Amino acid sequence: MSSHPTLSPHDLARALDGLHPDLRILGPDALAGRHPGEDPANLNAGVMAQPASTEAASALISWCRANHVAIVPQGGLSGLVGGGTSRAGQVLLSTARLNRILAIHTDEETVEVEAGVTLEALQAALAPHGLTTGIDLGSRGSATIGGMVSTNAGGILAFRNGVMRHQILGLEAVLPSGEVFSDMTRVVKVSAGPDIKQLFIGGEGAFGFVTRVVMKVEPIRPHRAVALLGVENAARALQVAARLRRHPALLLEAAEMMWPRYVRDHATLKGFDLSWLEGDAAVLLVEVSGETMEAATTLLEDELANLWEEADLKGGIVAQSSDQARRFWDLREYSGFYFARFPNAPSFDVSMPPSALDAYVADLTAGLAAIGNGLDAYVYGHIADGNLHIAIAAPGPLPPDMKGLAEDAVYAGIHASGGSFSAEHGVGLDKRAAYLTHVDPVKQSLSRQFKAMLDPDMLFNPGKVPF
Ligand code: LAC
Ligand code: ZN
Repeated sequence: MSSHPTLSPHDLARALDGLHPDLRILGPDALAGRHPGEDPANLNAGVMAQPASTEAASALISWCRANHVAIVPQGGLSGLVGGGTSRAGQVLLSTARLNRILAIHTDEETVEVEAGVTLEALQAALAPHGLTTGIDLGSRGSATIGGMVSTNAGGILAFRNGVMRHQILGLEAVLPSGEVFSDMTRVVKVSAGPDIKQLFIGGEGAFGFVTRVVMKVEPIRPHRAVALLGVENAARALQVAARLRRHPALLLEAAEMMWPRYVRDHATLKGFDLSWLEGDAAVLLVEVSGETMEAATTLLEDELANLWEEADLKGGIVAQSSDQARRFWDLREYSGFYFARFPNAPSFDVSMPPSALDAYVADLTAGLAAIGNGLDAYVYGHIADGNLHIAIAAPGPLPPDMKGLAEDAVYAGIHASGGSFSAEHGVGLDKRAAYLTHVDPVKQSLSRQFKAMLDPDMLFNPGKVPF
């Protein structure tokens, strides 16, 4: 049973009202007109519970279990695969009021935070302590720590620091039974049996509701330099990134690549000058940090001069101000520009060993072209860890026959190369078919068994990751 057969959103809101002093209930009227976030179906349930404590979340979850009402956990609503979508009869369980930063352990470089804190709010709170998060991503303003745990988010720094899984030391979650799972360890080293909390990291709200975590943080490096470079291909971009990685006085902070169609269409739209870029080269954005602003800029310029012929660079430009650096980043981070031109363009998020990137993009381009209608894609991503974002340059949804062929072209060879059909956005609703096709059957079976054990009534985020 996935939802109560009789309770309307209004009735549900009334039934939940007053359940716990730390629980705020928003019914259909309060939710009307609210922005649903990245997916228009996020708020369809029409009733949202906002606990301000773990106890309140537990009370709500216990009530839902007793009454067979399904729960959709929600964070910042910035998910890109429909993992937070809902329908009438379900209750949204939001982290909006679990938004306290509980402790900053400056010398230990760890923080304890509630799940609803946004990445940007955490970064702002850490900055006065000379610290920042070891993970960063474009949607920092809305993405919450709980949502980032639930999707095992990756972002810009994954090549250096790993993904969310590698940042989390401790975690607390309310289980579908209403019990509280608490493993708030504050240390890196724990060799005390299986690490059960990993189930919640990347669990997409199917195994429980994450309420708080302990996270690693790192010293902030404020002195930055940013460049855009023309590159022939990913191999050249990786060559540049590898050299900057080995520089004794610079730290590589980002290596983000935009393939030619992405960078040209976006630059045209933004009126961004690409006259420095030769031919039909792709563009690599690199950011480095150094001891001072001047050192970062000078050392980057020197290193790029060394690399010019060696990496066959096709032009380059180093930001001369923080404003210009921001404009470089906007070109990369405001990727939504293509949705204005191609509404609902089918989009993908894949990863592979970086050395496989060029062959993959060549095969992808050929595979899409073979489908006909001049089918093509926008390709960009976090090059140094092999994570590509791909958007088909056509309005979605594609007609069914074309959709299957396009997905075949996108997913071809990914699994065999040692990559993943979903790198950092999750499975949610949109990637269910890919999950069933590409995930090892034994792993799927084990996941189903864990799900059946923890959530026998299938009340947590039903219909998303297929169990
Ligand atoms: C990005 C999001 C789409 O990297 O993951 O821009
Ligand atoms: Zn990304």
